[in-house]
Amino acid sequence: MEPIETIGVVGAGTMGHGIAHVAAQSGYQVILVDAVPEALERGRAQIGKGLERLVGKGKLSAEQR
Ligand SMILES: NC(=O)c1ccc[n+]([C@@H]2O[C@H](COP(=O)([O-])OP(=O)(O)OC[C@H]3O[C@@H](n4cnc5c(N)ncnc54)[C@H](O)[C@@H]3O)[C@@H](O)[C@H]2O)c1
Repeated sequence: MEPIETIGVVGAGTMGHGIAHVAAQSGYQVILVDAVPEALERGRAQIGKGLERLVGKGKLSAEQR
């Protein structure tokens, strides 16, 4: 079986952006989609904030973010 490299997440709400965040942080290429462009942008912003918090806590480097 081919190794998984890319994960697709449908819906960028509470669950979707959380799953996308964890998958991206684990090194996967992530494709996040949402039917509502604003929801996609919100989800993306939430992921950015989450990663920023981890940088602040020293758990992630700025480059990894
Ligand atoms: N939030 C939780 O704690 C939780 C726990 C267990 C299960 N769930 C389930 O997970 C699912 C998502 O929950 P949530 O809390 O993230 O909801 P949410 O409302 O925060 O996000 C759902 C997102 O999916 C998008 N969407 C809806 N239909 C779509 C489509 N056809 N194509 C693309 N995007 C679409 C919406 O625009 C919205 O942004 C639900 O089925 C929910 O019952 C949620």
